[in-house]
Amino acid sequence: MATSYKDLGLVNTKKMFADATKGKYAVPAYNFNNMEQMQAIIQACVETKSPVILQVSGGARKYANQTLLRFMAQGAVAYAKELGCEIPIALHLDHGDTFELCKDCIDSGFSSVMIDGSHHSFEKNIELTKKVVEYAHAHGVTVEGELGVLAGVEDDVVAEHSHYTKPEEVIEFVTKTGCDSLAISIGTSHGANKFTPAQCTRDERGVLIPPPLRFDILEEIEKKLPGFPIVLHGSSSVPADLIAVINKFGGAMKDSVGIPEEQLRKAAKSAVCKINIDSDGRIAMTAAIRKVFAETPSEFDPRKYLGPARDALKAIYKAKNETVLGSAGHALD
Ligand code: G3H
Ligand code: 13P
Ligand code: ZN
Repeated sequence: MATSYKDLGLVNTKKMFADATKGKYAVPAYNFNNMEQMQAIIQACVETKSPVILQVSGGARKYANQTLLRFMAQGAVAYAKELGCEIPIALHLDHGDTFELCKDCIDSGFSSVMIDGSHHSFEKNIELTKKVVEYAHAHGVTVEGELGVLAGVEDDVVAEHSHYTKPEEVIEFVTKTGCDSLAISIGTSHGANKFTPAQCTRDERGVLIPPPLRFDILEEIEKKLPGFPIVLHGSSSVPADLIAVINKFGGAMKDSVGIPEEQLRKAAKSAVCKINIDSDGRIAMTAAIRKVFAETPSEFDPRKYLGPARDALKAIYKAKNETVLGSAGHALD
């Protein structure tokens, strides 16, 4: 039997994005695969009074099981309440690639889905996205479409170069599909190595400086779709201090570079209503776990390394809500 997200206490992204547009901030979309990540996300968002989108990728479904993840999101609603703030929580399918997968998620209680047809032709992308929108809207579920391709890894698909979103295509795509938000490509990229060293410059200390995001494309899109919610994927900042901790304690992350925080801050004040972050969470947890393993090699209780990893994750998500996305304090808008 189908389950509606409404019965689970979840919300779709409609009001979240309308409020974010009005308030000039972006709602955090954090990926989760396990309990510690879920605890960190909810604690961070409750303590900063931020709305949140919990994202489940194809990889997360394979790793943790979609049903379990859905029950965890349902549990998150009760958990937030217990922690003292009923923040708006959406459960979102990240990078859905087929109608059947989106339908399955909608039927099992997701309140929002992404149909990523960006690897198809423009016409096929419209056709697929429209089909998902028709089913989703009949169930009160919101849909994110994508135009343009990000460089980097999207689940099993690897794109070597980004193909920026063409502003001249956005009106037709949004009108014909009826999607509720649009993910665009303006130079962000998935993973911890978003740019090759050859694409970057170096500052005086030798730190890699990535090429700036294409705010000119974002502005053109905003002009064509005034007030329409825009989404940025691949928006981890890949903090150099955490990469240094990982490498100090036995890791081998090389030439890692992300999106500078001030550029995300600028994007969050624009039409960008949702910012996707996964890699920074992975980096924060890995740094904390490596530190415990290196400093206390006799430790074998998972709570003794997953606990610090959870705390580190919570700390970076609180900081993002407060100083990068600007979503802190907007849970009760
Ligand atoms: O966009 C990709 C997300 O970071 C999810 O990655 O499929 O490895 O869970 P994943
Ligand atoms: P990062 O790899 O930059 O964290 O991006 C995550 C993402 O876009 C999930 O859809
Ligand atoms: Zn993504």
